[in-house]
Amino acid sequence: MNKQNKVKSEIICRCNSVTKAQIELALKAGAKTLNEIFDHCNAGVGACGGSCRGKLKHLLDSYLATGQVPEKVEDLWLIQKKPK
Ligand code: FES
Repeated sequence: MNKQNKVKSEIICRCNSVTKAQIELALKAGAKTLNEIFDHCNAGVGACGGSCRGKLKHLLDSYLATGQVPEKVEDLWLIQKKPK
């Protein structure tokens, strides 16, 4: 990935500066679990302990269901924690 693409893509994992585009590449390369995304691009395994994993899960679940990454990235863990 060239530097220009990295700048234009949303940062998902701030600890390791991993962009949405990099995660999409991992998914297109065959990552089917969070651990496989971690192995491909180091997203989710930074110093904070993985605060981005809810977003990674949203990207993963959406990609597995539709074959595409969503335009807007939600944090599934925050959504699930909202009171009803
Ligand atoms: S933001 Fe991804 S591990 Fe910290």
